[in-house]
Amino acid sequence: MIYLADTANFDELNELFSYFPIAGVTTNPTIIAAENKPLSQILPKLIDLVGNKMLHVQMISTKAEDMLREAKTYKSKFNLGDNFFAKIPVSREGYRAIPMLKEAGINVTATAIFTQQQALIAARAGADWVAPYVNRLDNISSHGIEVVKHIVDNIEHFKLETKVLAASFKTVDQVHRVSMVGSHAATISFDVLERLRSHPMTDMSLEWFERDGAGLYDIEF
Ligand code: E4P
Repeated sequence: MIYLADTANFDELNELFSYFPIAGVTTNPTIIAAENKPLSQILPKLIDLVGNKMLHVQMISTKAEDMLREAKTYKSKFNLGDNFFAKIPVSREGYRAIPMLKEAGINVTATAIFTQQQALIAARAGADWVAPYVNRLDNISSHGIEVVKHIVDNIEHFKLETKVLAASFKTVDQVHRVSMVGSHAATISFDVLERLRSHPMTDMSLEWFERDGAGLYDIEF
């Protein structure tokens, strides 16, 4: 499973990119709204930061033709390459848009997925990635991980090329379990990524190593 950062915050991204093996960035309108700036001020800097890693940007349009126009505009205006993925919510119009975008040579991430069938339909429509929302399912007493597992199993069973980009995480345990069911990728907030990386026993062990080794490493380097 690869890790993506589910944030458009430049401080968080700069920090993450300095040490975490991040494979890309995902955004949605809520994530953009959290930055208190319009997309025109966020996207160029985001593109710079992300470099040739994946960049998944959600479309705001609701009609298929507008989604296509929106994705085409971002792609040409910002000279985006194959690392750009237009996030398309799986409404009826979204399903209609997926083959249109693929036809136009634009990569697609089908988003706002809550069931295995929504994912399978998106895969059949040609989506490169499908993004099931784990925590939002768990929040309504459903089972996010189970849904992801069924999607992964389906993809393997039917030998589809679509990959799973699990989304919406609030706990370390959700991320752990989603990796155990074989999700190809997970997009995760800065806070949860930091909690995945750190452990108090690691910090304590480092303190002990530092204390025990003090003055003993006398070979110059
Ligand atoms: C990413 O693609 C999703 O939009 C995002 O992970 C949703 O996360 P949330 O449920 O924490 O808002």
